[in-house]
Amino acid sequence: MDIKLPSPGKTSAEDLKRLAGLSARMLQKIRDEMLEPFPRKEAPLISSTRLQELCAIDRLRFSRVLKKGELPQGLQPRPGGMRHFTLEEAMQWVRAELKPKQRKGKGKVIAVANFKGGVTKTTMSTLLGQGLALRRGRRVCHIDLDPQGSATTLYGINPHAEISAGQTIMPLIEAFSMGKPFNMKELPLETYWPNLDLIPSSTELFNAEFMLPARAVRDADMGKLQREVRAEIAALRQQLAMVSGGPINPEYTQAVANGLSKIQDMVPEANKAQTHFEKVLSDGLEQLKDDYDYIILDTAPTLSYLTINAIFASDGVVVPVVPDVLSFASMVQFWQLFSDLVTGMESRGEEHVKEFDFLEILVTRMSQKDAPRLVSTWIREVYGSRVMPIEIPETELARNSNMRFSTVYDLGGSDTSAETLRRIRIPCDSMVDYIDDKVSADW
Ligand SMILES: Nc1ncnc2c1ncn2[C@@H]1O[C@H](COP(=O)(O)OP(=O)(O)O)[C@@H](O)[C@H]1O
Ligand SMILES: [Mg+2]
Repeated sequence: MDIKLPSPGKTSAEDLKRLAGLSARMLQKIRDEMLEPFPRKEAPLISSTRLQELCAIDRLRFSRVLKKGELPQGLQPRPGGMRHFTLEEAMQWVRAELKPKQRKGKGKVIAVANFKGGVTKTTMSTLLGQGLALRRGRRVCHIDLDPQGSATTLYGINPHAEISAGQTIMPLIEAFSMGKPFNMKELPLETYWPNLDLIPSSTELFNAEFMLPARAVRDADMGKLQREVRAEIAALRQQLAMVSGGPINPEYTQAVANGLSKIQDMVPEANKAQTHFEKVLSDGLEQLKDDYDYIILDTAPTLSYLTINAIFASDGVVVPVVPDVLSFASMVQFWQLFSDLVTGMESRGEEHVKEFDFLEILVTRMSQKDAPRLVSTWIREVYGSRVMPIEIPETELARNSNMRFSTVYDLGGSDTSAETLRRIRIPCDSMVDYIDDKVSADW
């Protein structure tokens, strides 16, 4: 599509009309493409070399356990060739050989958050979910809380074409706004990745931004009315007490007192708890904490009501940062808003002040050029022990895999050279293990 102007340098009314027509057609084309379902994703196979790495065993031990025949044998396309295991089979090996510490108590909620876009929140939250399931055999629920639905696309699902509002966390928010209960266990969908479920997102998640505060405002208005009516009744009672025993008929004052009591009973005490719109997700997730070891929240790059809910629901927060000057500057604002959020709650006299088990800054898209290296030293200087001792490198492979709706954990040996894959996969593995070690230490 191109527009050829009859007289270069000049734009006629006719040109403008053609331009408008062209852009409308283009927009329709993009919309149609957006509404196409995506091709279904398939889980990658795990080679025996990678399996040994996952189980932290050498080739000898691997052969011995394989021979015993108690664990899955995988597929061997030709005798003597490399064996391949499905993810499910690999997870069985990991449980048997690595013996990860089992959860006691409730599962943990981890939010991946930063109010800046493009810092790899979606990529990292998905990798974390895939990695915890594969490397430690954990049961994980990933929740996409960004109306743009990028995490949902990484599961091979088109959030615009295939997901209705009822499949996202919207029903939880609607139930809150109507003061009704909701069963969260209905929501998680099984995905192509075993042990990793998803609560997807769709554009309709934007409505949460209106619904959450609307209920809070309504509750606040109702609370104010209730307090005023009760104060009025108390004042009338006092006046009544002054006149009783005087010239007025005692039966009459008794009848008025009874009437006031009845009215008071009809006006309930204002319920403060109802206005906690920032705790809707937190309350909802309680229902899932027995079923999952981890609930991972991918958040939007804004301080939205949903992001606030995610922060209040989480036990731990991972903040990915890209080492460039602008991102470093925007972190200052992030911490300011983050601390205002938590201290705001304290000053409102909330009985449970929010505390996090951990807060970890993760330097991602790190390159060995001078500027990122300098910014990375600033980050470590300022944030010290809060910075994870791992850096995720900037790689072409990671950048391109997202465009194909994949993460580096989706890629197999045939997709790229083993060395290129290892360069990005090893730091991702370390990030997953670091988080699981930290969390499971308390189990
Ligand atoms: N290690 C990496 N190296 C290079 N590019 C990356 C890497 N990880 C992610 N990306 C790219 O960075 C962009 C932003 O990632 P995304 O996870 O969508 O960030 P966010 O959710 O914070 O907006 C994506 O285009 C993705 O392909
Ligand atoms: Mg994102």
